[in-house]
Amino acid sequence: MVAQSGPIGEALGAAGAAAGPSRDAREGLALAGLAVGGAEADAAGEAKASAANGPKGQAPGGLDGPLAAEGAAFEGPIIEAVDVDFYYGAFHALKGVSLAVKAHEVTALIGPSGCGKSTFLKLLNRMNDFVPGARLSGEIKVAGRSIYGPDSDPVSIRRLVGMVFQRPNPFPKSIYDNICYGPRLTGARKKADLDVLVEKALRAAALWDDVKDKLAKSALELSGGQQQRVCIARALALSPEILLMDEPTSALDPIATAKVEEWIKGANLSIVIVTHNMQQAARVSDHTAFFYMGELVEFGPTMEIFTRPRELRTENYITGRFG
Ligand SMILES: Nc1ncnc2c1ncn2[C@@H]1O[C@H](COP(=O)(O)OP(=O)(O)OP(=O)(O)O)[C@@H](O)[C@H]1O
Ligand SMILES: [Mg+2]
Repeated sequence: MVAQSGPIGEALGAAGAAAGPSRDAREGLALAGLAVGGAEADAAGEAKASAANGPKGQAPGGLDGPLAAEGAAFEGPIIEAVDVDFYYGAFHALKGVSLAVKAHEVTALIGPSGCGKSTFLKLLNRMNDFVPGARLSGEIKVAGRSIYGPDSDPVSIRRLVGMVFQRPNPFPKSIYDNICYGPRLTGARKKADLDVLVEKALRAAALWDDVKDKLAKSALELSGGQQQRVCIARALALSPEILLMDEPTSALDPIATAKVEEWIKGANLSIVIVTHNMQQAARVSDHTAFFYMGELVEFGPTMEIFTRPRELRTENYITGRFG
């Protein structure tokens, strides 16, 4: 059992006390791999301190700290939830969820609106720390280590576990500065290093060719699909092991969606994606988890979930009988 008075409780206290950034800004900051809930300056300080303690000779923006080291060496499930219950005040949003996610796979979370997909996703990088009255029991491990344990560090966790949201939410800055945002806060300063990092992240997000001649332009001038790929690149600039994506294409047109899906399929990352689009889940994921009213009803290889589900509730959902 992870106690309510553990780190989540402390983080909630801090978030409640400070008039911090708006929810969107906090999500953006988390996405850039930073501490959220307090002032940005605190986050920067914490991130720098953490970077300073990391192993020497690392590429700017790369992983550091004990979690990252364990992530590289760890061979078990990259994410393991054990008997997770989660409450928003009196509302029981997740009920006894246990799930093990393999590294370098794409795992889809599906289920009707309100079943707890986003809640579960956000628990994986401690984004729910900021919700007043929220309470967690059970255990969530990333790379074998309990992320709500007494010595866990949200900054390291968020650098290991990046996030891309439903609506593209680039910062109102240049494309270049969006990508550099997180790495700069972890101490990357040299322009030559940042140039390399920006190109690498934009190439990895399949956006380099679109934007290489306009890196100084505002990211807000790009199309929705391009903005979403800026957000993917911004997350990738911190070399996460895991990328969480909450309906990342629901605001995009079919062409932009196809590009993001192509990227997901080719990325050598552990990805957990929430989607309402059954075809998308079938196209991009290796494993699928079906949630219903806060319960994990069924989890298995995507092919099996979509062709021969074991549970009637899963079958009813994927055949469109409800949801
Ligand atoms: N901050 C919050 N405070 C209180 N209740 C919340 C909060 N966030 C979510 N909930 C509730 O928890 C339940 C699960 O919400 P969640 O956002 O995880 O659903 P979801 O499966 O992602 O749905 P959707 O497909 O519509 O995005 C819902 O009943 C929702 O109203
Ligand atoms: Mg959701």
